[in-house]
Amino acid sequence: MAALVERVNDAARLVPRGAVYALGLLPAVWIAFALFTGRLGVDPVLEAEHRLGLTALQFLIATLAVTPLMRLTGIKLIRLRRPLGLLAFTYVVLHFLVWLVLDMQLFWAQIAEDLVKRWYIILGMAGLLAMLPLAWTSRDAALRRMGGAAWRRLHRLTYLAAAAAALHYLMLAKTLTLEPLLYAGAVFGLLAVRAIPRRPRNPARA
Ligand code: HEM
Repeated sequence: MAALVERVNDAARLVPRGAVYALGLLPAVWIAFALFTGRLGVDPVLEAEHRLGLTALQFLIATLAVTPLMRLTGIKLIRLRRPLGLLAFTYVVLHFLVWLVLDMQLFWAQIAEDLVKRWYIILGMAGLLAMLPLAWTSRDAALRRMGGAAWRRLHRLTYLAAAAAALHYLMLAKTLTLEPLLYAGAVFGLLAVRAIPRRPRNPARA
């Protein structure tokens, strides 16, 4: 088992971050292509909105999974956490823009009404707003400027963003269906793993 973990870690070290961005953006390219060539069914805008939202949530979950995976199995994908997080942010922004420009058609009165009346929109906005400072401070320069402790504290906003996104998905369904429940289970399960206190590496020193 240890040899397998070592192999996965060696392979992960070789993956260029650029390749993660390129692969991660492929669904967006496909969704845009499908949208503009009429391949998204009877309500293409809503379908694009849904696919972008779902992909955003999947990248958020992948980002959240990096640390628990390391703690539980020893597999180290820390290098890939930033690209995964930035991809999640990109999809959230695209999802928001499709809603704002194509779905709401910049009809501000309706937008304002949705923003204060619909709980799932408020939760989605909370997720998006929580991700803004994360994306803004994702570069190494920001980490150096802020210092590790402050940077880590700020980046706990990831948990808020993921929880808001999971609830956003749960609440927009009129009836409770399996898929949003599974996504919420993944998000809150990963958050629960982080809440388990870490065993000290050297019990004598602890
Ligand atoms: C962290 C941020 C967000 C995530 C991860 C997210 C994710 C999702 C997901 C997974 C869905 C359902 C997709 C499906 O049914 O297959 C969805 C739907 C939707 N989201 Fe978001 N979302 C976020 C933020 C937002 C924001 C900021 C807005 C707008 C202000 C928004 C508006 C919507 C709308 C209008 C729908 C479709 C509702 C319907 O079916 O009528 N979302 N989102």
